[in-house]
Amino acid sequence: MMFQNWQDLETACLSCQKCGLCQGRRQVVFGVGNPRAQVMFVGEGPGENEDLQGEPFVGRGGQLLDKYLAAVDLDRRTNVYIANIVKCRPPQNRDPLPEEQEACIPWLRNQFALLRPQIIVCLGRVAAMRLMKPDIKITKEHGIFVKKNGVLMMATLHPAALLRNPGQKPAALEDFLKLREKIDELGCDVAKLQNMG
Ligand code: URA
Repeated sequence: MMFQNWQDLETACLSCQKCGLCQGRRQVVFGVGNPRAQVMFVGEGPGENEDLQGEPFVGRGGQLLDKYLAAVDLDRRTNVYIANIVKCRPPQNRDPLPEEQEACIPWLRNQFALLRPQIIVCLGRVAAMRLMKPDIKITKEHGIFVKKNGVLMMATLHPAALLRNPGQKPAALEDFLKLREKIDELGCDVAKLQNMG
């Protein structure tokens, strides 16, 4: 079933029971940002902080992500949209299982269909493998734009990986600078619109 507006989609998603992750969740983490954004970020799945607060990327990794966004004049609430491959927290923060991803991805596809983003940035390996190509080597292929189904896609290093491995931070910043160049080249609308919900 495809929902034709954001509110109906979110309402349905918040009561989802399509996979076992619903049993352990405190909150469904639908996404954050401007539903008119032309630039979308996709992570892997909620961690503990996200499960508690109901918003993607709100832990230490999220604070780092906000810094990279700010460095290129982007902002999670006004001019981008951020979601995850799975909307409920996997136990012990393990990778979401293939069947959990399969059960959840229609929500993300419906988000794509309504947003119609010009650019999708995959945050980390799990999102890049699922959305770009199953054998992507993110350490080699981050920062490279590829067109898929008419949408430009790029993978970058996951903020949590950068926390573990700070030596990769300059490479991540370069990815965000490339993103900004692409936004300007395509003329994406990244005005700091009021979030109209
Ligand atoms: N990691 C993710 O991939 N997504 C979140 O929302 C938080 C941490």
